[in-house]
Amino acid sequence: MIKVEASFVQRMFSVQDKVALVTGATGALGGAVAKAFAILGAKVVLTGRDADKLAKVKDELASGNLACEFAAGDPASEADALRIVEFAATTFGRLDVLAVCHGFNKPKDILEQSVEEWQAIMDADLKSVYVISKLSAAQMVRQNSGGKIIITSSARSKMGMKGYTGYCASKGGCDLMVQSMACDLAPHGINVNSVNPTVFRSDLTEWMFDKESAVYQNFLKRLPIGRLGEVEDFVGLYAFLASKASDFLTGGNYDATGGYWGN
Ligand SMILES: NC(=O)c1ccc[n+]([C@@H]2O[C@H](COP(=O)([O-])OP(=O)(O)OC[C@H]3O[C@@H](n4cnc5c(N)ncnc54)[C@H](OP(=O)(O)O)[C@@H]3O)[C@@H](O)[C@H]2O)c1
Repeated sequence: MIKVEASFVQRMFSVQDKVALVTGATGALGGAVAKAFAILGAKVVLTGRDADKLAKVKDELASGNLACEFAAGDPASEADALRIVEFAATTFGRLDVLAVCHGFNKPKDILEQSVEEWQAIMDADLKSVYVISKLSAAQMVRQNSGGKIIITSSARSKMGMKGYTGYCASKGGCDLMVQSMACDLAPHGINVNSVNPTVFRSDLTEWMFDKESAVYQNFLKRLPIGRLGEVEDFVGLYAFLASKASDFLTGGNYDATGGYWGN
């Protein structure tokens, strides 16, 4: 007797009616994840630090008949994160999915970078992940019906690079925090995983996509799939990690790199 039920398989990738909070929703990846979740029928709350930019993303989704709400705030601030999570829970009645898609980098040689600038990267890319995840998890625990936390890490979490003492350290920290959070939250039915992309197109990385440039050609030598990433390459993985199909997966750091290897 084959132990797979049609009723399970037919719905296993669904995120329909789940309430999803997406950080960095004004960015390339966060906007794409938010839009994909909304298209799939989730109730989406956008967040980022700039209310005007969030309103524009909301308008863009609305122009495609996709409803969402937004709450502005800094994910590294406990007060802001609490307010954002409470907004999601009061607006839609609950919180099922947190997708952490914000991030920041200011690459600089360790001898040139101030301790304050390094700390700002750590706050943006690690402390904020802890704070927004902790408060979202607390809400999910109160609901007592599980949840999904998906953290955007990076291929750089396991590969140091010149000028990246802040970024690589913060992303390496994210990977281990994901594994540790997964241990704390598994008894509550909350799965915690990370997506670890290599370079994909955003305002900041657009310059790397010049196919004639040495940077692009150099990437290609280590990219078996033969091109850099686009946000569409990743949204399926976020949807999968938000869905029932991934219920047995927790504490995972999932590479989404086109097979990228080496430094
Ligand atoms: N692009 C790539 O090639 C690449 C590769 C690997 C991993 N990643 C990771 O993927 C995630 C998304 O990257 P992206 O390229 O989509 O970014 P992006 O387009 O540059 O957008 C960044 C987002 O993060 C928010 N943000 C910026 N500085 C912040 C700070 N100090 N504190 C909190 N939020 C801040 C921004 O919103 P506000 O300024 O409005 O708050 C914006 O929504 C990041 O975690 C990044 O590290 C990116």
